[in-house]
Amino acid sequence: MTKWTQAVHAGKGTPWPKSRPTVQPIYQTSVFSFNSLEAVDEAFSGDEGAFVYSRYGNPGLQVLEQALAQLEGGEAALVASSGMASITSAVLSLCGAGDHIITTQDLYGGTQVLFSREMSRFGIEVSFLDVTQAYRIEEAIKPNTKVLFVETISNPLMKVVDLAALVAIKRGYGLYLLVDNTFASPLVCRPLEYGVDLVLESLTKYINGHSDVTGGAVVGSKEIIDRIRPLHINMGGVPSPFDCWLVMRGLKTLPLRMKQHCSNALLVAEFLATQPGVTHVHYPGLPGHPHYKLAQRQMSAYGGMLSFVVAGGCYAADKVIRRLKLVEFVPSLAGVATTISHPAKTSHRGMTSFDRAKLGIDDGMIRVSVGIEDPEDICADFEQALRND
Ligand SMILES: Cc1ncc(COP(=O)(O)O)c(C=O)c1O
Repeated sequence: MTKWTQAVHAGKGTPWPKSRPTVQPIYQTSVFSFNSLEAVDEAFSGDEGAFVYSRYGNPGLQVLEQALAQLEGGEAALVASSGMASITSAVLSLCGAGDHIITTQDLYGGTQVLFSREMSRFGIEVSFLDVTQAYRIEEAIKPNTKVLFVETISNPLMKVVDLAALVAIKRGYGLYLLVDNTFASPLVCRPLEYGVDLVLESLTKYINGHSDVTGGAVVGSKEIIDRIRPLHINMGGVPSPFDCWLVMRGLKTLPLRMKQHCSNALLVAEFLATQPGVTHVHYPGLPGHPHYKLAQRQMSAYGGMLSFVVAGGCYAADKVIRRLKLVEFVPSLAGVATTISHPAKTSHRGMTSFDRAKLGIDDGMIRVSVGIEDPEDICADFEQALRND
């Protein structure tokens, strides 16, 4: 069965004796009742289909976890109340005081803060470096290094990590390799197929796709997910039954949406590259991108995210933002509508202009989450906003 068919037919719901609803109902309950001690014992021993309390599990949550495991090509999944909750549960289950994590220097801002500010309070040390250079990782590995944490496509430079190279390193040094696949989605890249240990997704983004839910997921082998689940339940970052239902609903159109996001993004990237005042376009689908060949090998398309730089820094970027009519400035991504963000004033505002420049993040950079509208309308809006009058 292909990913398209899997997404449409995922989560048909719990079997009913004679007929069943075509859509999994929402079990909007915090707790379940029992008619005997034997039934309680069975539920607590993890009997399939027996639920106790919605923080431990709920039918809607279970169906979503099964659907995501199938879509990512993993044995099991754990769904959390946000992408950050899924990262926290995964990392804290694998690392403890005295351990060391290696991650990328252009990590998503929220994860960067979690790693740099919060993990040190738990005695976990984190090194940030350019993970596209394999030798830099090997140089940074120490006896206490436990986890290598990367993103399939980085923000906002859209760098692509070489999963096969990272898997070779993690195998060589006995590390866990965790990949945040939020910018790609399982329709564009399936990191588990390369041998990574865990794939993480912010469901808030492409997988739900309608900008109305926060959620996160971790997918991998049953053994690792079983290891993460107790900590996750105890930390309490679980999603509501309604949010699980909304993500299930969004998931059914993920293949269609991704197809349109990706084809639109390529057209918009090519268009922006021709515009006066645009000095650079970062999109892995453009032949000039440093990871164009890698993206061709590793991804089924180039994704729906890009960024471009206008000459003139913040002042010029602000002018474009103010003039856009259709495209809104929204500090998130991956919804059906095209939106923009300004890394220097949002995700990377904690850095100095000098440090941003060292990473290649210009103050005139605008990040675009290309939506599923008619691409001509998206390009027309950028054209009028970039016009020099
Ligand atoms: C790449 C990436 N990972 C993780 C997250 C965190 O997800 P959430 O906001 O659902 O906690 C985000 C949010 O923007 C993200 O862009």
